[in-house]
Amino acid sequence: MIALAWLVGGGSSFTPVFDKKEGALISPSSTRQSRTLACCSRKKTVSCLSQSLQRASSASLDWKNLGFSFMPTNCFVCATYQNGCWGELEISKETTIRIPIAATVLHYGQAAFEGLKAFACKDGSIRIFRPEKNAERLQRSASRIMMPLVPKEMFLNAVVRAVQENCEYIPPYGSGGSLYIRPFLFGSGARVGLGPSDEYTFIVFVVPVGDYYKGGLAPVTAVVTEDYDRAAPLGVGNVKVGGNYAADLLPYMQSKEKGYPVNLYLDPVERKYIEEFGTSNFIAIGNNKKSFITPNSKSILKSITNQSLMQLAQEELGLQVEYRKVAIDEVSHFDEVAACGTAVVITPVGRIVYQGRVMNIGNNPDQVGPVLKQLYELMTSIQFGQIADKRHWMYRVV
Ligand SMILES: Cc1ncc(COP(=O)(O)O)c(C=O)c1O
Repeated sequence: MIALAWLVGGGSSFTPVFDKKEGALISPSSTRQSRTLACCSRKKTVSCLSQSLQRASSASLDWKNLGFSFMPTNCFVCATYQNGCWGELEISKETTIRIPIAATVLHYGQAAFEGLKAFACKDGSIRIFRPEKNAERLQRSASRIMMPLVPKEMFLNAVVRAVQENCEYIPPYGSGGSLYIRPFLFGSGARVGLGPSDEYTFIVFVVPVGDYYKGGLAPVTAVVTEDYDRAAPLGVGNVKVGGNYAADLLPYMQSKEKGYPVNLYLDPVERKYIEEFGTSNFIAIGNNKKSFITPNSKSILKSITNQSLMQLAQEELGLQVEYRKVAIDEVSHFDEVAACGTAVVITPVGRIVYQGRVMNIGNNPDQVGPVLKQLYELMTSIQFGQIADKRHWMYRVV
């Protein structure tokens, strides 16, 4: 059995022991550094919650000027899968882990991740946006690359716990920031020949992130990546596995160097239909602002933001949803275009460069279009609890 051990405690394994004082299972490595989460008796949970609320947003950070980058917080939450079952959730105060040199994640890319956010809301509560959807998507990713499923309840417990334990780092209501939550799962057992690992690690860490649009929503120019594909038709483009992002690094950095912050991929067979941007879905407003259009393809990652915007467009703005193949040549007929995803909700796109030509979108490519602006405002108002959450998208933590 290969044990995965955190840097703490010099590499001992996770055999749990009972701590009488804490009334909890604790990992040996230690008492000081890492504690299982079995502690949450009902009474304790309630006091954890009220303490969390008092501590919320108390870290002294420059909330208005946060970017989107890693910083250490109080701790992360983790669990290991060994001998066919998941162990308890634990917390670790480290920012590093130790894994075997032959871990399957390092050689065969057995890794999947998620990204979601917790918000400090107007009424003082802390809420997470649609975490069940991320739990389901991580399960789809895990199945595709032969990793064990993280049960939905375990995923939700881990995410909630990571937020509670780090509540000082939740940007306060009004700052425009949020707590970005990064759950991930990888093969942590050693194996040299190709095959799935027999040990896995699930981790959830968090980082506070700022309001991307401090100066307001501003359109960018995107470029179509023509020399590389993001995904194969029956490949892994529809799941959130690490290798997809490694494959996008070179095209993405090349686009950035040329001055285009986002790159758009076409279908790998005909090079005619839009797939998605490197890390976000493609959405458009067309048909005289009457339709919400987004590509349908088996190799696109199903964005939770896109599904939510689609529903808002239909139910709140009365738009018709066109979920279909979208040819790149249609772009110049659209009224508005954006990239959408958890990190920024939407990035308006005013121009797309394709085969050396610049395609302008709408009448005023330098300004965000009114429909996308409305959708952005609707979505962020739900997230920050400024309007009623009619669809019960927000998952209350505290
Ligand atoms: C390839 C890709 N497409 C789309 C998205 C947007 O998905 P979501 O809205 O769930 O964040 C992401 C980000 O997770 C992504 O990496």
